[in-house]
Amino acid sequence: MSSSVVHRSISRGGIQFYLNGERHEVSDKFPPTTTLNDYIREVAGLPGTKVMCKEAGCGCCAVTVTHALDDQAPETMSINSCVCPLYSVDGWSVTTTEGLGSQRSGLHPIQQAIVDHNGSQCGYCTPGLVMAMYGLLHQNPSPTMKDIEGSLDGHLCRCTGYRAILDAAKSFGVDSPKAASIDIEV
Ligand code: FES
Ligand code: FES
Repeated sequence: MSSSVVHRSISRGGIQFYLNGERHEVSDKFPPTTTLNDYIREVAGLPGTKVMCKEAGCGCCAVTVTHALDDQAPETMSINSCVCPLYSVDGWSVTTTEGLGSQRSGLHPIQQAIVDHNGSQCGYCTPGLVMAMYGLLHQNPSPTMKDIEGSLDGHLCRCTGYRAILDAAKSFGVDSPKAASIDIEV
């Protein structure tokens, strides 16, 4: 845990949530400033989710979460884990890029599209972009290429430029000349 978040313990009960399908019970031992990103990277030991700006400005920390608001049906969406307080995810289901796919378990079609379009150079932005696309396809299973471009405008890539990444992402657009048809739950 980085020293910037270790100040004092919160005075409330713990929480439980699912991380890549595995149940996590978290006691109240972490300070209230602990973020979901802190937990994923430093406690759960999942470095695929990156961190940089810590202010929702670059998107490298994106994960998808599934939770229900009030009495509504559960929704899946991408969020910036760097600004999500750990203790706000009680009862949620959180998915990181490791939970989506890997070279060992097999790449998810979104991850494969990044590979196929040479969309990753250093790879720092890539997991966040993949999880943003995964969240978008849950929110809108039939996005246009314009929808996709608009949904990714909060993501920064520091080395490849955006062409290859956007080409990969836009291949899932319904109006893409090479429209990719995928089962996002693969
Ligand atoms: S580290 Fe979360 S948006 Fe930049
Ligand atoms: S591939 Fe390096 S930051 Fe995007």
